[in-house]
Amino acid sequence: MEKFIPNGLQFSDSALNHFSLMLEENSDMNAIRIGVKKAGCSGYEYFFEFADKQSEADEVINTGSCKFFIDQNSFKFLKGSMVDYAEEGFNKGIKFHNPNAKSVCGCGESFNIDNNQEASNISLKKKIKILPHEEYCPEGITFEINNEETILEACLRNGIRIEHACEMSCACTTCHVIVENGFNALDEATEEEEDLLDKAWGLEANSRLSCQVYPKDELTVIRIPKYTLNQVSEEH
Ligand code: FES
Repeated sequence: MEKFIPNGLQFSDSALNHFSLMLEENSDMNAIRIGVKKAGCSGYEYFFEFADKQSEADEVINTGSCKFFIDQNSFKFLKGSMVDYAEEGFNKGIKFHNPNAKSVCGCGESFNIDNNQEASNISLKKKIKILPHEEYCPEGITFEINNEETILEACLRNGIRIEHACEMSCACTTCHVIVENGFNALDEATEEEEDLLDKAWGLEANSRLSCQVYPKDELTVIRIPKYTLNQVSEEH
Protein backbone atom coordinates (compact mmCIF):
# COMPACT_ATOMS: atom_id res chain seq x y z
CA MET A 1 0.00 0.00 0.00
CA GLU A 2 1.23 3.53 -0.78
CA LYS A 3 0.87 6.54 1.45
CA PHE A 4 -0.48 9.62 -0.33
CA ILE A 5 0.09 13.13 0.91
CA PRO A 6 -2.04 15.62 -1.06
CA ASN A 7 0.07 18.01 -3.18
CA GLY A 8 3.18 16.47 -1.70
CA LEU A 9 5.06 13.24 -2.16
CA GLN A 10 3.99 9.63 -2.19
CA PHE A 11 6.10 6.99 -0.46
CA SER A 12 6.02 3.28 -1.23
CA ASP A 13 5.86 0.92 1.76
CA SER A 14 9.40 -0.25 1.00
CA ALA A 15 10.68 3.36 1.07
CA LEU A 16 8.94 4.03 4.40
CA ASN A 17 10.36 0.78 5.86
CA HIS A 18 13.81 1.79 4.70
CA PHE A 19 13.61 5.31 6.20
CA SER A 20 12.06 3.96 9.46
CA LEU A 21 14.96 1.51 9.85
CA MET A 22 17.48 4.29 9.25
CA LEU A 23 15.81 6.44 11.91
CA GLU A 24 15.71 3.52 14.38
CA GLU A 25 19.45 3.05 13.92
CA ASN A 26 20.04 6.78 14.54
CA SER A 27 17.70 7.39 17.44
CA ASP A 28 19.10 10.86 18.21
CA MET A 29 17.61 12.07 14.89
CA ASN A 30 13.87 12.50 14.48
CA ALA A 31 13.42 13.10 10.76
CA ILE A 32 14.86 12.66 7.30
CA ARG A 33 15.61 15.72 5.21
CA ILE A 34 14.96 15.24 1.48
CA GLY A 35 16.07 17.87 -1.01
CA VAL A 36 17.34 18.80 -4.41
CA LYS A 37 20.60 20.59 -5.19
CA LYS A 38 22.25 21.79 -8.38
CA ALA A 39 24.78 19.14 -9.38
CA GLY A 40 25.17 15.88 -11.23
CA CYS A 41 25.43 15.19 -14.92
CA SER A 42 21.86 16.30 -15.69
CA GLY A 43 21.51 19.51 -13.67
CA TYR A 44 19.90 18.60 -10.33
CA GLU A 45 20.53 15.88 -7.80
CA TYR A 46 18.50 14.44 -4.93
CA PHE A 47 19.94 14.27 -1.43
CA PHE A 48 18.90 12.72 1.90
CA GLU A 49 20.26 13.33 5.34
CA PHE A 50 19.24 12.89 8.94
CA ALA A 51 17.73 15.92 10.63
CA ASP A 52 17.19 16.67 14.28
CA LYS A 53 15.46 20.00 13.90
CA GLN A 54 13.08 21.68 11.51
CA SER A 55 14.06 24.91 9.76
CA GLU A 56 11.57 27.73 9.50
CA ALA A 57 11.31 27.35 5.74
CA ASP A 58 10.63 23.60 5.76
CA GLU A 59 7.58 21.75 4.53
CA VAL A 60 6.90 18.84 6.89
CA ILE A 61 5.43 15.51 5.83
CA ASN A 62 4.52 13.12 8.62
CA THR A 63 3.47 9.67 7.45
CA GLY A 64 3.03 8.30 10.96
CA SER A 65 6.08 6.05 10.83
CA CYS A 66 8.46 8.72 9.48
CA LYS A 67 8.79 12.46 9.45
CA PHE A 68 10.33 14.28 6.47
CA PHE A 69 11.59 17.87 6.19
CA ILE A 70 11.76 19.43 2.72
CA ASP A 71 12.92 23.00 2.14
CA GLN A 72 10.51 25.07 0.06
CA ASN A 73 12.80 25.39 -2.92
CA SER A 74 13.31 21.63 -3.19
CA PHE A 75 9.61 21.04 -2.64
CA LYS A 76 8.77 22.78 -5.92
CA PHE A 77 10.94 20.27 -7.80
CA LEU A 78 9.67 17.25 -5.88
CA LYS A 79 5.93 17.90 -5.72
CA GLY A 80 3.93 14.93 -7.00
CA SER A 81 6.91 12.53 -6.90
CA MET A 82 6.70 8.89 -5.92
CA VAL A 83 9.57 7.89 -3.62
CA ASP A 84 10.39 4.19 -3.82
CA TYR A 85 13.06 1.85 -2.48
CA ALA A 86 14.19 -0.96 -4.74
CA GLU A 87 16.71 -3.77 -4.56
CA GLU A 88 17.70 -5.08 -7.98
CA GLY A 89 20.69 -7.41 -7.98
CA PHE A 90 23.63 -5.47 -6.59
CA ASN A 91 21.76 -2.19 -6.89
CA LYS A 92 19.66 -1.02 -4.04
CA GLY A 93 18.51 2.39 -3.04
CA ILE A 94 15.92 5.12 -3.12
CA LYS A 95 14.39 5.87 -6.50
CA PHE A 96 12.42 8.97 -7.39
CA HIS A 97 9.62 8.90 -9.96
CA ASN A 98 9.43 12.64 -10.45
CA PRO A 99 6.85 14.11 -12.84
CA ASN A 100 8.81 17.40 -12.90
CA ALA A 101 11.92 15.74 -14.36
CA LYS A 102 12.22 16.25 -18.10
CA SER A 103 15.17 13.91 -18.43
CA VAL A 104 17.02 11.64 -16.03
CA CYS A 105 20.67 10.63 -16.38
CA GLY A 106 21.72 6.99 -16.72
CA CYS A 107 22.66 6.61 -13.05
CA GLY A 108 19.18 7.83 -12.04
CA GLU A 109 20.60 10.19 -9.43
CA SER A 110 20.37 13.44 -11.35
CA PHE A 111 17.74 15.00 -13.54
CA ASN A 112 16.83 18.01 -15.60
CA ILE A 113 13.63 20.02 -15.59
CA ASP A 114 11.63 21.89 -18.17
CA ASN A 115 13.27 25.20 -19.17
CA ASN A 116 10.06 27.15 -18.50
CA GLN A 117 9.77 25.70 -15.02
CA GLU A 118 13.43 26.49 -14.32
CA ALA A 119 12.95 30.04 -15.65
CA SER A 120 9.97 30.61 -13.39
CA ASN A 121 11.96 29.37 -10.41
CA ILE A 122 14.94 31.54 -11.29
CA SER A 123 12.84 34.63 -11.85
CA LEU A 124 11.53 34.50 -8.29
CA LYS A 125 13.33 37.11 -6.21
CA LYS A 126 15.51 35.39 -3.63
CA LYS A 127 15.22 36.35 0.01
CA ILE A 128 17.36 36.19 3.11
CA LYS A 129 15.91 35.75 6.54
CA ILE A 130 18.11 36.76 9.47
CA LEU A 131 17.07 35.06 12.70
CA PRO A 132 16.79 37.33 15.77
CA HIS A 133 20.15 38.45 17.19
CA GLU A 134 20.36 40.53 20.36
CA GLU A 135 22.74 43.11 18.86
CA TYR A 136 22.10 43.18 15.10
CA CYS A 137 18.33 42.64 14.80
CA PRO A 138 16.45 41.63 17.95
CA GLU A 139 13.24 40.91 16.01
CA GLY A 140 14.86 39.20 13.04
CA ILE A 141 14.38 40.48 9.50
CA THR A 142 13.65 39.17 5.98
CA PHE A 143 14.72 41.03 2.82
CA GLU A 144 15.31 40.47 -0.88
CA ILE A 145 18.77 39.82 -2.27
CA ASN A 146 20.04 40.67 -5.75
CA ASN A 147 21.67 37.94 -7.84
CA GLU A 148 25.11 39.54 -7.79
CA GLU A 149 25.14 40.19 -4.02
CA THR A 150 26.83 38.16 -1.31
CA ILE A 151 25.01 37.58 1.96
CA LEU A 152 27.20 40.20 3.61
CA GLU A 153 26.55 42.84 0.91
CA ALA A 154 22.79 42.30 1.16
CA CYS A 155 22.94 42.50 4.97
CA LEU A 156 24.88 45.78 4.92
CA ARG A 157 22.46 47.24 2.36
CA ASN A 158 19.62 46.41 4.74
CA GLY A 159 21.25 47.87 7.84
CA ILE A 160 22.52 44.61 9.37
CA ARG A 161 26.08 45.67 10.21
CA ILE A 162 27.82 42.30 10.34
CA GLU A 163 31.52 42.84 11.05
CA HIS A 164 33.85 42.69 8.03
CA ALA A 165 37.31 43.53 9.29
CA CYS A 166 39.14 42.64 6.07
CA GLU A 167 36.68 44.52 3.84
CA MET A 168 35.42 41.28 2.28
CA SER A 169 38.77 40.04 1.00
CA CYS A 170 38.53 36.59 2.64
CA ALA A 171 41.27 37.39 5.14
CA CYS A 172 39.44 37.48 8.50
CA THR A 173 36.58 35.49 10.04
CA THR A 174 34.50 38.34 11.41
CA CYS A 175 31.73 37.89 8.82
CA HIS A 176 31.07 34.29 9.93
CA VAL A 177 27.41 33.19 9.75
CA ILE A 178 25.53 29.92 10.09
CA VAL A 179 23.31 29.01 7.14
CA GLU A 180 20.25 27.35 8.69
CA ASN A 181 18.40 26.88 5.42
CA GLY A 182 19.76 26.88 1.87
CA PHE A 183 23.22 25.59 2.83
CA ASN A 184 23.23 22.65 0.41
CA ALA A 185 22.47 24.88 -2.56
CA LEU A 186 25.54 27.10 -2.00
CA ASP A 187 28.74 26.82 -4.02
CA GLU A 188 31.39 24.91 -2.10
CA ALA A 189 33.76 26.92 0.09
CA THR A 190 37.26 27.51 -1.26
CA GLU A 191 40.26 26.15 0.63
CA GLU A 192 41.00 29.71 1.76
CA GLU A 193 37.53 30.10 3.24
CA GLU A 194 37.70 26.66 4.92
CA ASP A 195 41.03 27.57 6.55
CA LEU A 196 39.61 30.81 7.92
CA LEU A 197 36.42 29.14 9.12
CA ASP A 198 38.51 26.80 11.27
CA LYS A 199 39.34 29.84 13.39
CA ALA A 200 35.77 31.13 13.71
CA TRP A 201 34.04 31.38 17.07
CA GLY A 202 31.10 28.95 17.33
CA LEU A 203 31.94 27.02 14.16
CA GLU A 204 29.16 24.67 12.98
CA ALA A 205 28.84 22.20 10.09
CA ASN A 206 26.88 24.79 8.09
CA SER A 207 29.12 27.78 8.86
CA ARG A 208 30.19 30.10 6.01
CA LEU A 209 31.89 33.45 5.58
CA SER A 210 29.09 35.76 4.51
CA CYS A 211 31.36 37.86 2.26
CA GLN A 212 32.09 34.78 0.11
CA VAL A 213 28.62 33.35 -0.38
CA TYR A 214 25.93 33.99 -3.02
CA PRO A 215 22.59 32.52 -1.92
CA LYS A 216 20.92 30.21 -4.45
CA ASP A 217 17.66 29.17 -2.84
CA GLU A 218 14.45 31.15 -2.85
CA LEU A 219 14.84 31.60 0.91
CA THR A 220 18.18 31.39 2.72
CA VAL A 221 17.96 31.50 6.52
CA ILE A 222 20.94 32.91 8.40
CA ARG A 223 21.92 32.86 12.05
CA ILE A 224 24.59 35.33 13.15
CA PRO A 225 26.78 33.82 15.89
CA LYS A 226 26.72 35.46 19.29
CA TYR A 227 30.37 36.55 19.06
CA THR A 228 32.97 37.20 16.39
CA LEU A 229 36.61 36.21 16.79
CA ASN A 230 37.49 39.89 17.42
CA GLN A 231 34.98 40.22 20.26
CA VAL A 232 36.26 37.03 21.89
CA SER A 233 39.89 38.21 21.82
CA GLU A 234 38.92 41.70 23.06
CA GLU A 235 37.15 40.18 26.07
CA HIS A 236 40.05 37.88 27.05
S1 FES B 1 34.96 40.23 5.80
FE1 FES B 1 36.81 39.26 6.24
S2 FES B 1 36.49 37.23 5.59
FE2 FES B 1 34.61 38.18 5.19
